[in-house]
Amino acid sequence: MPRAFQLGCLFLIVGCQAAPENAEQPFAPYTNLQVFPQDVGWSELGEAMLNNLRGLGLRQTAGEGCLHCHVGSLQTSMETWDFASDVKQTKRQARLMMRMVRSINETYLANLEGRDSLETAVTCYTCHKGQINPRSLLAVLDRDFSAGGIERIEQEYRRLRAEYYGRGVYDFGGALTDLGVTLADRGNYDDAISAVELSVEFESESRDAHRWLVRMVMEQAVVEGRVGELRSLWDSLTAVERPEGAIVWFTLRSVGVRMRRTGQLEAAEWAFALNAQIYQNDHRIITDLAQTQLLRGDTASAVALARRALDIDPDYDNAVELLAEVDAER
Ligand code: HEC
Ligand code: HEC
Repeated sequence: MPRAFQLGCLFLIVGCQAAPENAEQPFAPYTNLQVFPQDVGWSELGEAMLNNLRGLGLRQTAGEGCLHCHVGSLQTSMETWDFASDVKQTKRQARLMMRMVRSINETYLANLEGRDSLETAVTCYTCHKGQINPRSLLAVLDRDFSAGGIERIEQEYRRLRAEYYGRGVYDFGGALTDLGVTLADRGNYDDAISAVELSVEFESESRDAHRWLVRMVMEQAVVEGRVGELRSLWDSLTAVERPEGAIVWFTLRSVGVRMRRTGQLEAAEWAFALNAQIYQNDHRIITDLAQTQLLRGDTASAVALARRALDIDPDYDNAVELLAEVDAER
């Protein structure tokens, strides 16, 4: 943006009807600068103030955004506002932030070896992206969940999406699936599945969203030990029309891997065994099952399975390693 235009914006903020007396240096003299040099010009100071507004997503009209940090009132002319006052905590916080940004740019980035683009500076926007409190959408949703459960998420996600989608403030892509995983980690599968269902509603073209839904529903069944139902559950989930490539050989594998990582070996075995039933003669899936059998102490089955995997792909590392491990222990 050309500088003249930015300054133009600022004079608009200052108010067209009452152009500041000192058009070159509005609000001067400045009496409480601690970050900027005393002789700073308004072109620099004013631009920094505009950057504050943009970074934090504050309103740029009629000085309203300035009041987030400065003392004044929309009822009175800006010329009478007390910009020097440090009464507002936000101003004091912002000063600390300005020091931090300065040090990032002038100390850290300035000393970055082999720097690609010298013009790229960190600004308030880099972190805040138009939010007063820079938070990831996952953090926002997780807080909403604690406050009001899944119903609150359904409302808040819709609201945030309607308000912010496409504005670069939040990354809507994976936030709901991330929330689902967070909830599943806490053992709350019902709400985890609701969160992922919501992501499928909004991202119906996303393979990831669909894959997560199927994965999550299967994981709940496995964790709850509903072994007899697994196959029919899978069939009904995969009978639904989903984007091409959403459901693949590693959809169920991820369930097994997660179970194995959390020490739920029986559940892991169910997931891998079902996967082997669905995708037959896949050396990777057969080896998954073999590794789990070994962990469960069934060495004979593990060896037989690993050999079967090697019949399909004689070079498959995981199977080769499994047999070597068994040999070494004998
Ligand atoms: C996010 C907080 C924040 C916002 C929003 C903000 N400012 Fe500031 N402003 C500051 C801080 C911090 C300083 C002190 C800088 C320093 O210590 O060098 C300051 C200093 C000033 C000063 C110098 C005051 C003095 O006499 O020492 C003026 C004038 C000023 N701002 C005008 C504005 C205007 C006009 C706006 C709206 C377009 C605005 N500011 C928006 C934080 C903010
Ligand atoms: C390196 C990332 C980063 C940059 C750059 C950055 N901030 Fe922040 N800012 C944060 C974080 C993180 C917080 C703490 C958020 C929280 O507590 O929820 C924060 C908090 C704040 C707060 C207090 C918010 C509140 O109400 O709790 C203000 C005001 C603020 N920043 C202003 C600014 C301004 C103005 C700039 C540019 C001069 C800036 N920040 C640049 C990361 C940054």
